[in-house]
Amino acid sequence: MFDGVKIWPLLLGAKTVTLVWENGRRILARILIVDDDEIFRGAVEMSVGSLGHEVTTAANGRIALDALQRLKFDVVISDIRMPEMDGVELLKQIRSQGQLPVILMTGFSEIIETQAAHSLGANEFIPKPFSTEDLSTAINRCLVFNTRSVDESEDFCKLALNDFVTGRTIKFNIFVRLTGNKHIKLAHKGEDISMERIRFYREKGLRFLYLRREDFRQYVGFSAQLNQAARAKGIINTEKKLGLLRHTGEILNEQIRHDGVDEEAFESAQAFVGATVDILTDNPRALDVLDALRNHADYMMVHSVGVSLYSLMIAQRMGWNLPTNRLKVAMGALFHDVGLKEVSRSILDRPRYAWSREEVKVYETHPSRGIAILNDIDCIPEDVREVVKQHHENCLSHGYPAGIRKSNIHPMAKLISVADEFCYRIIKGPEFKDLTPVEALQDLKVNLAEQLDKKFLEALTLLFRPATPVSLSKAT
Ligand SMILES: [Fe+2]
Ligand SMILES: [Fe+2]
Repeated sequence: MFDGVKIWPLLLGAKTVTLVWENGRRILARILIVDDDEIFRGAVEMSVGSLGHEVTTAANGRIALDALQRLKFDVVISDIRMPEMDGVELLKQIRSQGQLPVILMTGFSEIIETQAAHSLGANEFIPKPFSTEDLSTAINRCLVFNTRSVDESEDFCKLALNDFVTGRTIKFNIFVRLTGNKHIKLAHKGEDISMERIRFYREKGLRFLYLRREDFRQYVGFSAQLNQAARAKGIINTEKKLGLLRHTGEILNEQIRHDGVDEEAFESAQAFVGATVDILTDNPRALDVLDALRNHADYMMVHSVGVSLYSLMIAQRMGWNLPTNRLKVAMGALFHDVGLKEVSRSILDRPRYAWSREEVKVYETHPSRGIAILNDIDCIPEDVREVVKQHHENCLSHGYPAGIRKSNIHPMAKLISVADEFCYRIIKGPEFKDLTPVEALQDLKVNLAEQLDKKFLEALTLLFRPATPVSLSKAT
């Protein structure tokens, strides 16, 4: 049976006629199929013909335009890349004369053309490979509803182009974002990709692609059953969640100094932190805890998001690219100071050097307070708890709470300590009045080079090369 079979060059099956009915009326249309690949064109022709439609074919946009002058059509289905006149130019010509529905057959390699085609008014996009059913749905939408195939839900996570394309095969459906909150599916799970094409997009300025939130959870290995149950029961306070996401977005875009940093690494980390906060706050307890942190002191939320951002950039520099590890780094950094929400503002709002011995003691309880808070949240990985517990341990073994040896400190805790001290300096707070990144690196080099793990400090420094070269060699 041909219906439902994926259409791909050389894949032809026995013809089965499938008729389309709408309100008891059979819909037949005159359809122009435009594709330069003869075999593929033949497969689409057979498939559309099997739906009962009348089909005419053309080998490129120029021939299609000639056909459109002479004959009347109800829908055009066109490939994008063709010699003489491509699908985007054909669409432009069609739109200059009217609103004839146009369906474009797209591929992962045609992201930029697809975005252009959407702005020019293409009605539907069908990612290759597709089935007769996909074709039928797209044709019917054009004929019956005259709508455009965009998804306007908010159910997507943004990721940097490089971030999830780690192999040759796409593991999830991929979407591209259009204006507003509209997305088009651009590639199916399982499709092969070319790294050259990815590089080409980067050169053209394309930075982000989108995954459905559920796919993002799977991608980062985030256990989500309980979160889903909470959402289904409506436990999540949507207003609180949206407020927190909006605030996180503002922090990521406006409040973290990054002058001179590797822009690509920064953008990638920005998107990942945003997506992490998004899925994390589907857990009602995690949402409450982050919201309480933000309400306790605004600069603490800025600090936590900043540490998450810089920790991810350091991790990327170190080659820690496994999505599950990136999620743990982002989460560990977001929660590292969560215990501070139980420490009085009368201590936190003053610089450390002004604290009494008693106040220092209270402050130093925040790692263990943090662990107690996280014990109440069911989706926190063990590595994240270790980060919270150990982020003030140091390489000289005189950190707190336990003064453990360097070799016994969790690597993620050592990494996050570097981002923590750095962000403490670049974000305006009670002690530092927003140093520049270069000044902050110099300060770490002079005052904390022995306490912090040198390889993570070096990775942080390298994020600012070559624009602002800062060498650690003198101090190390
Ligand atoms: Fe801390
Ligand atoms: Fe901190």
